[in-house]
Amino acid sequence: MMSKASSRTRFAAAVVVVAAVIGAPGAAQAQGGGARCTPGAAGVGDGYYPGYGNGGYDVREYDLDVAYDPATDRLDGEATVSAKATQSLCSLHLDLVGLEVQSIEVDGRPATFTRDGQELVVTPRKPLNKGRRFEVVARYGGVPSEFVLPGTDIRTGFMATPDGVTVAGQPEVAASWFPVNDHPLDKAAYDFEVTVPDGYEVVANGFLRGTRRDGGATTWRWAAREPMASYLATIDIGQWDVSTGRTARGLPIYDAVDSAITGDLRAAIDSSLARQSEVLDLLTASFGRYPFSTAGAIVDNQDDLFFALETQTRPVYSKLFWLDNQGNVRNGDPVIVHELAHQWFGDDVALARWQDIWLNEGFATYAEWLWEDHEGRATPQETFQASYHELPADDPFWSVVIGDPGVDLLFDNAVYTRGAMTLQALRNEVGDDTFWAIVRGWAASKSGGNGTTEQFIALAERIAGRQLDQVFDTWLFTAGKPTPSAVSGSGGAAAPLTQPTRERASAWLDGLRTRLAHGRY
Ligand code: TRP
Ligand code: ZN
Repeated sequence: MMSKASSRTRFAAAVVVVAAVIGAPGAAQAQGGGARCTPGAAGVGDGYYPGYGNGGYDVREYDLDVAYDPATDRLDGEATVSAKATQSLCSLHLDLVGLEVQSIEVDGRPATFTRDGQELVVTPRKPLNKGRRFEVVARYGGVPSEFVLPGTDIRTGFMATPDGVTVAGQPEVAASWFPVNDHPLDKAAYDFEVTVPDGYEVVANGFLRGTRRDGGATTWRWAAREPMASYLATIDIGQWDVSTGRTARGLPIYDAVDSAITGDLRAAIDSSLARQSEVLDLLTASFGRYPFSTAGAIVDNQDDLFFALETQTRPVYSKLFWLDNQGNVRNGDPVIVHELAHQWFGDDVALARWQDIWLNEGFATYAEWLWEDHEGRATPQETFQASYHELPADDPFWSVVIGDPGVDLLFDNAVYTRGAMTLQALRNEVGDDTFWAIVRGWAASKSGGNGTTEQFIALAERIAGRQLDQVFDTWLFTAGKPTPSAVSGSGGAAAPLTQPTRERASAWLDGLRTRLAHGRY
């Protein structure tokens, strides 16, 4: 197969090599009695974000012991990064944006360090041999910097709120609050110990392990032991109404809703959260078993939080998903479906490079189409056809090549909607049984790890037992609106939609457009 996809793979591979070479100036010096070591690379070689992540080691666990002071917005603490060297390292990079580093120790001995933009370069006393486990302890602090959503002035990252903090961003967030190998390729376990003044409460990923009061402050211990990409780590500080329970299948749920959210809005949020068990059942039936050992939600009262994020086991949601543009309360169930679907696609199966973002957003959007069907509104094929019909050929929507959208369009509507269209087109091409075998096969075979578009295509072709170039080239790698035949699969023309069906199905697209006009999810 000599598709566009395979030439892109070679390009990406070339980028990796270049990054490795750039990241290793003056490589292979002899040190410490002749052991050869090289500096770890300054990036993992992501074509979209060359500086993200680092080379030469693999993090097993982050222990983040931090105190946050709402009066000053300062975060101060100690990060312990437990890792294994994958090459002999004379020095290694971590990513850290802003903040001040007071000291660094490697395996209990003081190490030297320098800062260069987002790179924190650590030189241990002695090189770390390949295969060796080591611990970097950094004492650091300061006021974390925020980020903005590309192309907007929407704030993301470590955000101070009137009553605490919200931590959510993609792809940039982790490096603004702890030293990190900041790329989804290096998943790790997380332990959080977050100390806040009395009156503040903390929610994070995973399980609450306990609280400890000391003086006028409380330390909240949270543990997320299942491998997690760094952008999915969250701590959220505020005053929460917590509700806990279990789904019918016994999965523990921990929901935290800002206590300041009351009235009709609160009732609407609670009613969506009460449906999580039902959503998880639908998604489990579709994608295979839920990948983590807990679930839940974090809904903050922050007025300028314009998105939701699939933070692992416990997504963060803007309350605005339950309000329309006039400020009327509306049903926010679709965003719950979307973020819970990301637990399979995005979190458990993470990206290996940011270019492949459609693998996250296309699946999460497809889950919304499954939900439309579950709710009796429209089948995925109907939503597909209605969206196709609603978007004229000259709409800029169709010019986005979602298999390689570029950094600025990483979260364009097309990545979401055309991503879901790609999956429905695949379903039409291979038939239901093969389609679900592919989807479940993808979730199961990449569970706990990472995947690329090329690997997804290869898996689909293996399961289908034939080449599927045409469907993937058309939907992922070719700009422009595909011809009507691409919407019907191989079986001829798609059945025309009746007017009521078309209206129900296009209501979904309107909803998505409104949501994306205000932020992202
Ligand atoms: N991935 C998020 C979602 O689908 C949306 C998103 C894109 C986002 N960029 C972001 C969220 C930046 C927070 C910050 O739910
Ligand atoms: Zn999403």
